[in-house]
Amino acid sequence: MIQNYPKSKEILRRNQQFIPGGVVSSNRAANPEIVFTRARGAYLWDAEGNRYIDYHAAFAPHFLGHNDPYVTEAVVRTLHEDASLYGSGTTVHEGKLAELICEHVPAVDSVQFLNTGSEATYQALRLARAVTGKSHVITIQGGYNGWHNDVSCNLMTPLAVLGARRSPGEYPYHSISAGVPVEHQQLVHSINFNDLASVAYVCERYPIAALITEPILQNIGVVKPEPGYLEGLRELADKYKFLLVFDEVKTGFRHALGGCASLFGVRPDLAVYGKAIANGYPIAAVGGKKELMDRFADSDPSRRVMLAGTYNAHPVPTVAAIATIERLLMNNGEVYDYVEKLGDRMQKGLEQIFRGLGIDATVARQGSAFCVYFMSHRPKDWHDIAEHHQFSVDEQLRRDLVAKGIYVFPLGTKQWSLSAAHSTSDVDETLEKVETAARSLGLEVMAETGRKE
Ligand SMILES: Cc1ncc(COP(=O)(O)O)c(C=O)c1O
Repeated sequence: MIQNYPKSKEILRRNQQFIPGGVVSSNRAANPEIVFTRARGAYLWDAEGNRYIDYHAAFAPHFLGHNDPYVTEAVVRTLHEDASLYGSGTTVHEGKLAELICEHVPAVDSVQFLNTGSEATYQALRLARAVTGKSHVITIQGGYNGWHNDVSCNLMTPLAVLGARRSPGEYPYHSISAGVPVEHQQLVHSINFNDLASVAYVCERYPIAALITEPILQNIGVVKPEPGYLEGLRELADKYKFLLVFDEVKTGFRHALGGCASLFGVRPDLAVYGKAIANGYPIAAVGGKKELMDRFADSDPSRRVMLAGTYNAHPVPTVAAIATIERLLMNNGEVYDYVEKLGDRMQKGLEQIFRGLGIDATVARQGSAFCVYFMSHRPKDWHDIAEHHQFSVDEQLRRDLVAKGIYVFPLGTKQWSLSAAHSTSDVDETLEKVETAARSLGLEVMAETGRKE
């Protein structure tokens, strides 16, 4: 049982003198405050030398596991070949990566590269505004699409702020950042996931340029689209003439090479990728229909959408992405079958544990991504979670597991991620520890729900 992290505390204390909060991404601030110093495959090690089985995967990019040898080898080789950031003209690497993506991702005819998912969602929305000549956008309550003004809102909004379910309707802009101009907030309309009536409601009232959504909400666990929902979005996009943007930053490459667009057979106008595309190296992509993407290079400056970046398609993340896709393609994509089997073993094990203990819990899963909700049904949107999920139980379980060497991000509803580097024995060890932790939690759950055995 790990309880104290003196070396981690000392590193954080020192960093706090020079970095606001001591951490460089506010989303990474976590309690317990553990500093990790090494990672390989399915494991993380902290500053004290404790080993953890990692289910956080740095918010999900490490689909092949940390420091995958094939990807590392490609990066090291490229550096030894004197590749550098030339910053003038195109490169062989960016062309090769673009070609691979256009060949294997059906939603993408043409693609551009950036460094982060936020940059990519920013560009997708800017392109949508340029193409449609409209300014308003629809976002999904409980979805996360990055840190910029259009999307830094309405993520895990507390129920007390949300109030009663609004459908058909929209929720007020609830910022997760200070500094978003009120004028900008008025361009953003946040609605429930799985709620087509609210899309129509907003479209009847505002000129909508785009609807951006994760096809499966994976920043609040794993919330899947109901049958017909994504198809319905496609129809409404065509009817109201807005662009349908799938944010596949978390789902793309992790669930299938073609992402959710291929899994569900719904073609967005634009799609955005990041994270698993390069197994942990910083690169993101925006892609889609050629006639739309061509606006990034329109010969008419008044129509051209500016997309620029000193580090776009830097050779290191670019070759990492090429190597990652090559790994995903090996042996007819057997990695997807492998993680599905692991995920199935994990899901069945978890369900058995919670059923056996009489705890109200539901496991939601897509392939390697899953989440345990302490409620009696699979959630359909954030409002449902905010209303029914027992966050205190979730967070206590997470903290117990971290102390036992199972690293899940210690914030309720955050996705658990398996990788190709996890083994069945990792899953079994995890299940044993979940069972021990859940046994000590059982009574508390009963007390909260007022249920008796
Ligand atoms: C679905 C989704 N979109 C966009 C982003 C933003 O990506 P980044 O953190 O690389 O800017 C994230 C990050 O977690 C995400 O999960």
